[in-house]
Amino acid sequence: MISRSTIDRVFETARIEEVVGDYVVLKKRGGNMLGLCPFHNEKTPSFTVTPTKGIYKCFGCGAAGNAVGFLMAHDQLTYPEAIKQLAVRYQIEIEEDQRAHNDPAYQAEKSQRDRLWDLMAFAQQYYTRVLWDHPSGIAIGLSYFHERGLSDATIHRFGLGYSLEQSSPLLDLATQSSFSPEELELAGLALRSENRGHYDRFRGRVLFPIYHLNGKVIGFGGRTLKTDRKEAKYINSPETPLYRKSESLFGLHQARKAMAAAGFVYLVEGYMDVISISQAGVENVVASSGTALTREQAALIHRFADEVTLIYDGDQAGIKAALRGIDILLENDLKVRVIALPEHEDPDTLARRMQGENLKEFLNSNAQDFMAFQQNLLLKEAGRDPLRISSALQVVAASIACVGDPILRAMYIRHLAEDAGIPDASVQEAVVQQFKLKAKRIPSSSASITPAPPLEAVTKPSDEIRDEPPPSPEIQPLNDIPQETEILRLLLLVGNQTMSNTTGGAPISLIDYMGETLLSLSWDSSSCRALLELCIARWQMEGCLPANHELMNHTDQGISTMATRWYTDNPQISPNWDQMHDITVPPPTDNLTKEIETTFDRLLLKKILRHSRIKQIELQTLQQNPAGLDNPSVLTAIREIQELKEAERRITARTGIVITH
Ligand code: UTP
Ligand code: MN
Repeated sequence: MISRSTIDRVFETARIEEVVGDYVVLKKRGGNMLGLCPFHNEKTPSFTVTPTKGIYKCFGCGAAGNAVGFLMAHDQLTYPEAIKQLAVRYQIEIEEDQRAHNDPAYQAEKSQRDRLWDLMAFAQQYYTRVLWDHPSGIAIGLSYFHERGLSDATIHRFGLGYSLEQSSPLLDLATQSSFSPEELELAGLALRSENRGHYDRFRGRVLFPIYHLNGKVIGFGGRTLKTDRKEAKYINSPETPLYRKSESLFGLHQARKAMAAAGFVYLVEGYMDVISISQAGVENVVASSGTALTREQAALIHRFADEVTLIYDGDQAGIKAALRGIDILLENDLKVRVIALPEHEDPDTLARRMQGENLKEFLNSNAQDFMAFQQNLLLKEAGRDPLRISSALQVVAASIACVGDPILRAMYIRHLAEDAGIPDASVQEAVVQQFKLKAKRIPSSSASITPAPPLEAVTKPSDEIRDEPPPSPEIQPLNDIPQETEILRLLLLVGNQTMSNTTGGAPISLIDYMGETLLSLSWDSSSCRALLELCIARWQMEGCLPANHELMNHTDQGISTMATRWYTDNPQISPNWDQMHDITVPPPTDNLTKEIETTFDRLLLKKILRHSRIKQIELQTLQQNPAGLDNPSVLTAIREIQELKEAERRITARTGIVITH
């Protein structure tokens, strides 16, 4: 357990703009700072950081919170993990009971994930120790890196290591430190065979740690130093609970500051390429580690840069294969350039020939726009064969269909038409076709991902493009989260007030009046429901509502986000503002109370009506089914609809509010 005073110091010391600034490029905008939201895909920045208040908020997706909440949400950390990370960053001593790793209580406390993070750190420290201190490490590993031109500083910066040519040195050491063989296996550090039991995955290899954005190691790539044997050049960590290949990029942790400063990143193929280029003074470089690029990686890049420049080795086969992965970058609104290196050259050899400004200048002057590059390559290859030209055109058209910017798209279409010597309209048609194909391929479940923009700028009226009618509002998921959030905000604000116009009976508080009804509704937001339960429980047990500062630091990220948003939106009437800052705000006037009650009723009514409507649609669907009438769900649905109608009638009778359907 971290002591309260440590937590308080962390909150006092952490600067939101610095914490967020590690991940998001922020630009000053008045008293605030503005950047691209790391929690959703966006082109224009709506992510705001308010240093004076210590909070962030995205006006696009609603993400909000303080520095601790940011780390929790961004790096999927638990509350204590986030506090610890900040404590380390700000050199705050963490007070907690320092129990040994093998203390059973400690083991029970720490989650498996926690232990895996520790284990990966343990392994990385071990492998670097071997590299720097062990005779074989120095003689084999360190001298190999030196031979390849890496400086000690670079070797440290990338945390490189060496694994001895033995069966299980890491396993032995880690199990002595209370980690289990199964945990090593889970972390991808050990393998198991029927007759040998567990043994180290990495043996006799130089190691390239793969870092999470939070600076912790999640995996390794291990290069063999042998040339004579038929074993894989690289062995990599498998997918583990910490290491998801599709969501990580080698070198990103080291590159992100330079990426943000330059606004673009060089994408290369190998570990060594990243390290050499970076050492040569071009630090904005990452690698996808030999796998095809994924949407997640593209989104990750886009957090720090708008442009990607791919550097390819000089061989043609490799380039053509790699071109296929690029549409994913375009779809994520990244501008793409390409550098094709001369034959027999790769980024690593290049970086050994050229450094600093020279290298930058070379890269800069050799980067071509991707679309032009691909077009030239494919058209040249197609020669004068109409069939081959046509299929080359389709490939380029497919890429153009990924481009979001309509002006850029139009320009690409013009260029392609010109170069291929065919009318603009034909290219436009091809692009539209590709766009339709793409739309069909995208499963509906990924609708949350920014949809490709409509193509009206390209050609043709847009109804040509739309194959299916737009979804009717009824079949769209009805989402009550805004209303639910508002109800909770009001409940916290005035839930303890007595109802002003109850007809007869003893006066009761708003929360007593509404609580049960609210609980009986189905909630779209689990955080809202959890907060409602918390409010009711607290009210019943202690006669008060939870204070805002408690909610802002609540471990349910949804709750802390809501609380922070209320606080930022309107600190004057934010819940429990007075309790939070020891200042007294005047109690709401009668008018205000009434107004709030009315708003409350209206929201409640709306929610009830929406649920009624959902139930009715459900009922219709059930009744369309021939076996429907015998279905017990029909009766349940009918009863629920009746109950909702009753609740609606009660509120309408009391308040006179009528919402037309
Ligand atoms: P390369 O063969 O180009 O390796 O593979 P490299 O990184 O340039 O290494 P050097 O220069 O020969 O030392 C490019 C990337 O493909 C992945 C690795 O991520 C590598 O960095 N790869 C390659 C594997 O995962 N396994 C392999 O067997 C080979
Ligand atoms: Mn190489």
